[in-house]
Amino acid sequence: MILERNNFMNVKQIEEQLKQFNLENQIPDLKELINTYQRCHSGANEIGTKLENLDDEYSTDYDHNPIHHMEERLKSAASLFGKLERKGYEISIESVKKYIQDIAGIRVVTNYIDDIYTVEKALSKQSDVTVLKRKDYIANPKKSGYRSLHLVVSVPVFQSKGTFDVPVEIQLRTIGMDMWASLEHQLSYKTDADPQKIEKHSGHLRSYAGELNEIEIKMQDIFRDLQDK
Ligand code: GTP
Ligand code: MG
Repeated sequence: MILERNNFMNVKQIEEQLKQFNLENQIPDLKELINTYQRCHSGANEIGTKLENLDDEYSTDYDHNPIHHMEERLKSAASLFGKLERKGYEISIESVKKYIQDIAGIRVVTNYIDDIYTVEKALSKQSDVTVLKRKDYIANPKKSGYRSLHLVVSVPVFQSKGTFDVPVEIQLRTIGMDMWASLEHQLSYKTDADPQKIEKHSGHLRSYAGELNEIEIKMQDIFRDLQDK
């Protein structure tokens, strides 16, 4: 299993993205924003390490490892401020701290649906992990057909200045759900494409989400049967 850590934080990049939104003067305390990013970076690393350790244990103790691969990322400043703007919140560091819980993000991709809940259970019972939010889009898929389990957890980050509880968003999904979400994501960004074409593909993707789910359940059943000794 590989954890792809894309969580570099670059002060220059943040400054450029603020300029792009004409916000360079609205965030007077750039240092505070950078500190927030840095703590989120550490939070993502804490959770990333916990997941890597679970992965290590599964590989040692069992003949099935629920985690296929993981990706770690920090939200770009552009999408952070885009989100505040979209939701109608004041553009300030206070709003970031109050309303944004997905600066640090980790995606866990598993083989089977059961694996998602196995990883969720193993992580959420750890004494320093607090589940703040849970959205089960597998039990209740989105209108688009999107399926995944979303968690926002809080984890302590120990710094020289003290201890900070940092939120980390975790998206857990199977390889099939991941493939579906990547294609649907591409489609939703094709705003310049023919609307009829988009409509047609969205409709297909909605029904493929259901078909994929059925196939995943059947494959899960085969796997469970093979595990039964
Ligand atoms: P945002 O973070 O503003 O999107 O709102 P939210 O916090 O209510 O988020 P939600 O839990 O619904 O989704 C968060 C993330 O899940 C998104 O940023 C996407 O990465 C992913 N996601 C949610 N819905 C969809 C969808 O319909 N299609 C795809 N491809 N991804 C989705
Ligand atoms: Mg989000």
